[in-house]
Amino acid sequence: MSNFENFFNSNKKALDDHMLSLVNKLNCPEQLKESIQYSLSAGGKRIRPILTMATLDALRKNTSLGLDIGSAIEMIHTYSLIHDDLPSMDNDDYRRGKLTNHKVYGEDMAILAGDSLLTYAFELVANSPQYSSEIKVKLISELAKAAGPEGMVAGQVLDMQGEGKNLSLNDLEHIHINKTGKMLMISVISAGIIAGSSEIEIERLRKFALLIGLAFQIQDDILDYVGDEAKIGKRVGSDLENNKSTYVSIFSLEKAKELLNKTYEEAIEQLKELNLESSYLVNLCELIVNRDY
Ligand code: IPE
Ligand code: IPE
Ligand code: MG
Ligand code: MG
Ligand code: MG
Repeated sequence: MSNFENFFNSNKKALDDHMLSLVNKLNCPEQLKESIQYSLSAGGKRIRPILTMATLDALRKNTSLGLDIGSAIEMIHTYSLIHDDLPSMDNDDYRRGKLTNHKVYGEDMAILAGDSLLTYAFELVANSPQYSSEIKVKLISELAKAAGPEGMVAGQVLDMQGEGKNLSLNDLEHIHINKTGKMLMISVISAGIIAGSSEIEIERLRKFALLIGLAFQIQDDILDYVGDEAKIGKRVGSDLENNKSTYVSIFSLEKAKELLNKTYEEAIEQLKELNLESSYLVNLCELIVNRDY
């Protein structure tokens, strides 16, 4: 196993154990807990919290400092997927290789499991023993902004409104940066906030992360077209069926791959400007663009 694989797997295990023990302790209706655990433990890649940990590592901080904020980010991400799969949104039956939350627990419980993950994420950061009060306020503010009506939720709205439309590259980039880029952005800059990076460094981290976030969603669009269902754990062709505007539907598979490479190279350029000891971050960026699931 390479050093990077070891880094990835050991941090993923620590994160999974942490998140599941937090959910286990919740004093809430049993079926709600089951529904939350079902989606949280369904086998997500954990790219976002690992990004936090790889950035902490590059900033010479202990990766365990990413456990609470990483769990919060992964919970918000999981809520966004539960809601994204609902019949009123992308209407998907499979996620992470299993039936979607609403297919097992019903739409009502799926909505409420999503609501729980969103709100609990903020409770977790607010009560974290890992960060000072000043850092917590910054984390909460950035997290809310990234996930909310000026971030991921805006992206989801524009994604729905873009169904069946012939969008420009700029429009599509704007959707992808919001619906996906901003959650990757908060994953990276939260490490900068925890490490006490300067404003200038944080802005550089932000720029890098938005680019790698955009690349992540371009690859997601490509995998929706050419991926292997058994590997990606969700249905191939869902975007086509929903008339989604994606990098593949608006341009072509070839053009989408070209724009993916261009965006990846821009992200790496930006990363170089940060002068970090960042080999794991580069490994993670490579994984993001070359992944097949
Ligand atoms: C899927 O995210 C939704 C997007 C924002 C593209 P991931 O591909 O990270 O999904 P999981 O967490 O591994 O299931
Ligand atoms: C979803 O984008 C982004 C979210 C904020 C959940 P997609 O709709 O393309 O994600 P998948 O392909 O269903 O995972
Ligand atoms: Mg969607
Ligand atoms: Mg979807
Ligand atoms: Mg998709």
